[in-house]
Amino acid sequence: MKLQEHKATLSFSNGAPSVELPIYSGTVGPDVIDIRKLYAQTGMFTYDPGFLSTASCQSSITYIDGDKGELLYRGYPIEQLATQCDYLETCYLLLYGELPNAAQKANFTERVTKHTMVHEQMQFFLRGFRRDAHPMAVLTGLVGAMSAFYHDSTDINNPEHREIAAIRLIAKMPTLVAMAYKYGIGQPYIYPRNDLSYAGNFLRMMFATPCEEYHVNPVLERAMDRIFTLHADHEQNASTSTVRLCGSSGTNPFAAIAAGVACLWGPAHGGANEACLNMLEEIQAMGGVAKIGEFIAKVKDKSSGVRLMGFGHRVYKNYDPRAKLMQETCNEVLSELGLENDPLFALAKKLEQIALEDDYFVQRKLYPNVDFYSGIVQRAIGIPVSLFTGIFALARTVGWIAQLNEMLADPEYKIGRPRQLYIGAARRDVLPIAQR
Ligand code: SDX
Repeated sequence: MKLQEHKATLSFSNGAPSVELPIYSGTVGPDVIDIRKLYAQTGMFTYDPGFLSTASCQSSITYIDGDKGELLYRGYPIEQLATQCDYLETCYLLLYGELPNAAQKANFTERVTKHTMVHEQMQFFLRGFRRDAHPMAVLTGLVGAMSAFYHDSTDINNPEHREIAAIRLIAKMPTLVAMAYKYGIGQPYIYPRNDLSYAGNFLRMMFATPCEEYHVNPVLERAMDRIFTLHADHEQNASTSTVRLCGSSGTNPFAAIAAGVACLWGPAHGGANEACLNMLEEIQAMGGVAKIGEFIAKVKDKSSGVRLMGFGHRVYKNYDPRAKLMQETCNEVLSELGLENDPLFALAKKLEQIALEDDYFVQRKLYPNVDFYSGIVQRAIGIPVSLFTGIFALARTVGWIAQLNEMLADPEYKIGRPRQLYIGAARRDVLPIAQR
């Protein structure tokens, strides 16, 4: 980062001495004001709950321009990666900073492929859950449980450990997500196959049974791979910030990633795709397109507490580029499966069109985000709604690891420990219970 000539001067109306704060510029995007010395110099904290104006770190991994609706992974536009590369190439890019050449891609693919099996004992963790447990509850448990197995890769200060833990997590997430699914429907687990692609392997572990050969549909395989790429990383979102904060204590990578899975589950974050599909099904049950106006009116009435799920974003104040690509993938999958007239897809497109013409959404710059169409395409592929966020977690694991490893590789990193504005009771003495 580059120190700017001009600085920020903080002056106080009560006559306290002004403070000069350095300003830094990155490659692109907003400059930052360095406030690290502010408390020492002024005895005051900054105040920014929700981190609306706070940069928590410097990073070279992902850049988002919310106004332009631009998303770059290591400088490459998501539109190019999602159409010209596959997910494992994107994983390599996010982890190591450059796209792999053919030899590097083959080696990386082989390393991931050879780690797709999980320890046989993992099955016994699943048995502890009710069959109807939410897959995200199961996945949070399974990912955390990985730290009970892979002791030879939990020293985060050892770059080799960080490397093998990254490969293990990327390789085993599809297996664990598929196991959580099979456990829920009472079917036997399907072991990974080394002759299938990453996405093809996942589809087979999800939908194959021991009773017959499973043939991977190449259109669905490509769609699944693209869904993984579109969800791979997204700057300092809530779950990534959780992984960084958790990892900053020096805990092992599996525990830090499990914290990210837990955070992603929330409906305001990764759980929005499940919430969005449930919302579409609710409108469909109310009467479909004819009821969109009534639903939109509810959304605009704050007291209803109803939100248009899959719309709006903290950073994007324009179309989320991933939503456009997800809509295209939706079209491809639905036409491949002869579901062009899927009522929910028609409903979603109508809902988007109406919302984008409505001043309430236009004024607030609320556009479809990655979650608006992802549920429809996953449902068409046959993935149950309750597993949507699990697939988001599967895909985002590489982003979480890349961000965690970037932090751990920075010799200056410290344990994250925010402060607060205390508004509780001033010091007071305990009274004996008879006097309370
Ligand atoms: C993801 O951070 C990331 O990068 C996340 C993510 C990633 O890849 O990691 O992109 C993935 O989480 C996408 C977002 C998925 N969430 C949803 O789709 C849930 C619905 N959307 C929201 O609840 C909301 O838009 C957030 C949480 C996404 C963003 O919330 P902000 O930035 O805190 O904005 P806000 O809640 O303050 O809303 C601003 C205004 C408010 O109205 P006013 O108070 O100004 O009158 O817009 C309104 C909100 O009421 N609003 C919505 C709305 N989203 C915001 N109104 C109706 N429907 C919505 N979806």
